[in-house]
Amino acid sequence: MRNKNGLIFGVLLLAILGVFFIKEKNKEKINQEIVVETQKNEVKLGVLQLLSHPALDTIYKGLIEELARQGYEEGKNLKIDFQNAQADQSNLVAMSSKLVEEKNDIIVGITTPATLALANATKEIPIIMAGITYPVEAGLIADEKVPGNNITGVSDRTPIKQQIEIMKEVLPNLTKLGILYTSSEDNSIKQVEEAKKIATDLGLEIKVAAVSGTNDVQQVTESLASEVQAIFVPIDNTIASTMPTVAKVAQEFKIGVFPSADTMVADGGVLGLGVDQYQIGVETAKVVIEVLNGADPAKTAITLANEGIIYLNERKAQELGIEIPANIKEKAQIVGNK
Ligand code: TRP
Repeated sequence: MRNKNGLIFGVLLLAILGVFFIKEKNKEKINQEIVVETQKNEVKLGVLQLLSHPALDTIYKGLIEELARQGYEEGKNLKIDFQNAQADQSNLVAMSSKLVEEKNDIIVGITTPATLALANATKEIPIIMAGITYPVEAGLIADEKVPGNNITGVSDRTPIKQQIEIMKEVLPNLTKLGILYTSSEDNSIKQVEEAKKIATDLGLEIKVAAVSGTNDVQQVTESLASEVQAIFVPIDNTIASTMPTVAKVAQEFKIGVFPSADTMVADGGVLGLGVDQYQIGVETAKVVIEVLNGADPAKTAITLANEGIIYLNERKAQELGIEIPANIKEKAQIVGNK
C-alpha cells in the first residue's frame, strides 16, 4: 500500500514538473519572439504639431522622453517624423497627407486643429491625441469611452466651473469678466460656451472677445481690457503663443489674466487651474505603446491627463496687488514669476 502510494505520488510529481517545464520553455520562447520583433522592427512615428508654444513643446518633450523610458528610442527602434505647421492651415493639410503617404505606423496629433487635419487624411492609421480638450465636440471621435474609429488618446480638460469659482474667490469684487479666445479653434469655442454659462449663473457680467489670429491679439485684448476687471482665457493655442503680449496689455490696464494652462500662467497670467503639460506627453506615450502592442483605438477610452492643479504666478499677483487667499496659496504650485 505504501509503495503504491509512493508510486502514484512520484508519477504525479513528475507530471507536474513536466508541465511546469514546458510552460517555462514556452514563456522563454514568447519572450524571445517579442525581443526579436522589436529589434527587427523600427516603429515609424509621425507627429503633427500646430505651432510652437511652451505648452505644446513641453507635451512633445514628455512624449519623446517617456517613449525612451519605455524602450522606444530614436535611432534604435524608433523613427520620428516630426512636423510643425507654424499655425498655418494649409501646412496642416499638406503635412497630414505626407505623414500618411510615408506610411507611419502611428501618428500623434498635438492640438485639435492638427488632429482634425490628420483625421481627414487617414481612417486607417491609428491617430493618438495629445492634449485635446473636447475630442467629441470637435468631431474627432464618437464617444470618450468608445471612440469608434482610428482615434484615441489624452484630453487636457479641467473643470471650468472650478476655475471661475477660484477667480471669484481671488477677486471678491469681480462683477465684469472678460473672456478672450480664438474664433477658429474648436477647442476654445466649446470651453467659452461653458464658461459663459457658468459665469452668468454665478452672477457675473460677461464680455466675450475673439481674435482671428496672432495679428489682432494686441488690439482685441486692449479693447476687452478697457471694459472688464479680469480676463479668463481657455486652453487656446493662439492665445498661448501670444500670452506675453496679452499679459502686457492687461498689465497696462491693471487687470489680471486667468488662463487654463500652467505655461500660460508662467507667461504672465495670475492664476489658473490647469494640467501639467509634460504629463500630457507622458500619458500620450503610454497610449502610443498600448496601441503598438495591439490595443484597438476604437475601443480604447480617452485618458484625462490629470486632475487640475492650481498654478500661481506669485510675482504677477503682487504686481497687480491681488491678494491670494491662504487656502488657495497652500494648494497652488508656483510658476513663472515674471
Ligand atoms: N488643448 C489644446 C487643443 O485641443 C492643445 C493644448 C494642449 C494647449 N495644452 C495646451 C493649448 C496649453 C494652450 C495651452 O488644441
